[in-house]
Amino acid sequence: MIEKMDKLEIRSQEYKLSEATRQEIVELVKKYPSSRSAILPALHIVQAQFGFVPVEPMAELAEMLGILKGDVEQVVTFYRMYNQNPVGKFHVKICDSISCYLRGSDELIQHGLQRLGTRLNEVSGDGQVSISKIECLAACGAAPCLQVNDEYMYNVQPEQLDEILDTLKTAKENPYYIP
Ligand code: FES
Repeated sequence: MIEKMDKLEIRSQEYKLSEATRQEIVELVKKYPSSRSAILPALHIVQAQFGFVPVEPMAELAEMLGILKGDVEQVVTFYRMYNQNPVGKFHVKICDSISCYLRGSDELIQHGLQRLGTRLNEVSGDGQVSISKIECLAACGAAPCLQVNDEYMYNVQPEQLDEILDTLKTAKENPYYIP
């Protein structure tokens, strides 16, 4: 029981907004006429801290924005750009909207999952890589496309995805990062 409580305590501390995150949100809110309008970028800041948006800090964020926790939950569950579960150090987000779908994104996703040996949204055992679907990345002319964290890759074919996944398995930093 004590061990269980310790774990819960550690978990809730783990998912507390850091001072830096809180400060960044405070500065962000100043740019908006009403604090609730800042919810989308504020959630990106929260996601940048944890890699996803855990349930615990939603109440903290709601309080900062003067809205209900349910409002935050609705936004997080509506938009696929917010991860509701932990993701890999390198998160491969494959677009499955219409242009990418017509150019083979479904097959690409299945191919990638098979190569990685995971299911959709599941993190590889070493914590390095996860694959998710994402809505249109606004690069429809270069379908099918994906992002590795925030970096775009265009016209991705299965063989190229193999190379990307193999590279990410041993990478320390995002090899596709463009400053
Ligand atoms: S449909 Fe994939 S980028 Fe638009």
